[in-house]
Amino acid sequence: MNENLKVTVIDHPLVQHKLTIMRRKETGSNEFRQLLREIAMLMGYEITRNFPLEDVEIETPVAKCTAKRIAGKKVGIVPILRAGLGMLDGMLDIVPAARVGHIGLYRDPKTLKPVEYYCKLPSDVADRTLIVVDPMLATGGSSSAALTMLKEHGAKSLILMCLVSAPEGVRVVNKEHPDVPVYVAAVDDHLNDKGYIVPGLGDAGDRIFGTL
Ligand code: PRP
Ligand code: URA
Repeated sequence: MNENLKVTVIDHPLVQHKLTIMRRKETGSNEFRQLLREIAMLMGYEITRNFPLEDVEIETPVAKCTAKRIAGKKVGIVPILRAGLGMLDGMLDIVPAARVGHIGLYRDPKTLKPVEYYCKLPSDVADRTLIVVDPMLATGGSSSAALTMLKEHGAKSLILMCLVSAPEGVRVVNKEHPDVPVYVAAVDDHLNDKGYIVPGLGDAGDRIFGTL
């Protein structure tokens, strides 16, 4: 069913177990936020697995040696406001030196089209690998618009990391941004007539911030 989608599903047991708890309607904001942070860290760990390494000469207290360090572009994290903020701290836990950009988008409840209200990025986006984070990839409108905005600001190396996706949204991002690798923890069944992911986890922003 999903064979034509270009997406990497991070199926680590810890990620899947934590996601199940997040999906449950009984899970409150405090636990939801904590789990999202933990999953972001675990997903970030998997996504950075293929970052290139280079040799560096160092001296330990015992001897000189050749050791490894990450080579290539520096990293930037770009949460899509507001729900993307829930994945920021988990990413910064493992990439603490990353610069952070913010993109403010909300989905118009009638048209389901993304509306831009904020954009503040590091000045050197062209020189960084930017990891765009948002828990939900539903119609794909918000993620795709964020990626377009970043490209308009000069970004050349982009990764999209979402928690739960719908096939429709992955398809849109694949079509509009074939150069951008997409990582998710789940590809769910479909979107309902209100544009919510089924089964999904409801409104991620409301569940993170307790604005239900
Ligand atoms: C949610 C979610 C994504 C978007 C996904 O944000 O966090 O940004 O919807 O839907 P799409 O793929 O159809 O664009 P929302 O607009 O509810 O704003 P919020 O994060 O401020 O709650
Ligand atoms: N945004 C959400 O927060 N949840 C969905 O299911 C779809 C869009």
